[in-house]
Amino acid sequence: MTGGIAAYKAALLVRRLIAAGAIVDVIMTRGAREFIGPVTFEGLTGRNVRSDVWEDVPDGTHVALGQHAAAIVIYPATAHTLAKLANGLADDLLTTTALAHDGPVVVAPAMHTEMWSHPATSANLSTLRARGVTVVGPASGPLMGGDSGTGRVVEPEEVLAALRDVLAAPAPDGDEVAMPRPYAGRTLLVTAGGTREALDPVRFLGNRSSGRMGFAIAQAAAQQGATVVLVTAPSELATPPGVRRVDVVSADDMDAAVRLHEGVADAVVMAAAVADFRPEAQLPTKWRRTDGPPTIRLVANPDVLAGVVARRGDGPRPVVVGFAAQTGELETAAREKLAAKGVEMLVANDVSVPGIGFESRDNAVLILHRDGRQRDVPTASKALVAEAILAELLPLLD
Ligand code: CTP
Repeated sequence: MTGGIAAYKAALLVRRLIAAGAIVDVIMTRGAREFIGPVTFEGLTGRNVRSDVWEDVPDGTHVALGQHAAAIVIYPATAHTLAKLANGLADDLLTTTALAHDGPVVVAPAMHTEMWSHPATSANLSTLRARGVTVVGPASGPLMGGDSGTGRVVEPEEVLAALRDVLAAPAPDGDEVAMPRPYAGRTLLVTAGGTREALDPVRFLGNRSSGRMGFAIAQAAAQQGATVVLVTAPSELATPPGVRRVDVVSADDMDAAVRLHEGVADAVVMAAAVADFRPEAQLPTKWRRTDGPPTIRLVANPDVLAGVVARRGDGPRPVVVGFAAQTGELETAAREKLAAKGVEMLVANDVSVPGIGFESRDNAVLILHRDGRQRDVPTASKALVAEAILAELLPLLD
């Protein structure tokens, strides 16, 4: 880590790397320490954070970390450190480590737009790229001090994706050092979002599901090597890299799409909030105020999840994961639902708690298994909750 306001985001990157199975040593430059303390990273990695070439000299720390690392990630990377790397300077622990390393290097530049556009920075970046360094970003957006423009560090997910790519590529000496891809060779069918049940050409009955939880699961599964089909109700969210997206609108559409794709799935993860009922008929023309208040008769929708379980019968595939959006008491209701639905795993969350669940970036869930085991996942980003769900699911696929 080098000295930039984006240093705080490195904590999330480190957490994601550890969740993916990496062992992470953090080196902070003096500048990085001005922005964020080392204790955060020692807590996350369980290892000492280093900054000083003059510590542990007999251990050869100034070169040892670089010699042994499978990859170096510099996040964020200042213009100054990029300049030093381009010129082979080695006046601190980060740069001695980089010079002693012959494996992949990923840098995520972060600086003001003027510094990014400066010919000196451009020339240094060209040198680094020519040497095989992977440069991720920068992105555009707000910068320190109220400015905005190109120079913002990319999000940790982009660095993870770049790192997976460089590590998956065979090294020049033929050795392969791969990040764990425990879902390689598996196919997951994931549903997401809230279905829309049409009343007339302009109106629908819907729900508050944003699709974020299902998208996070699809993204994490793809990063871990799975082939992912994501059947989603209308959502503004971007399709995660490498995921095959199938857009649907109503519960009926979702049912049809799931039937089409379930045959190839090792697991079906039903994160969608599917409407249980739909208007009996969709009016062909718009209902007008002058028509007076309508009476809407509802009829039952298919239970998509129950259909998957019924068609599978006693067969081993697909393993089915259900979700339960509860309000209030979780455990008893969730246990009952797990049994009633005949799923292998049930993910329950309390949607009445503000800040988690519907429309939120975070979630907190209780994961129940059929054999009575359970795991409580306290409030965390949906990306981390997705990783916890996938970690619980993986052993069920064997
Ligand atoms: N589900 C489904 N099709 C429906 C309704 C729900 O596939 N028509 C799936 C959801 O994707 C989720 C789980 O079933 O995985 C949610 O079930 P639950 O919350 O129990 O909804 P209901 O079955 O509607 O139960 P209830 O309304 O009694 O709580």
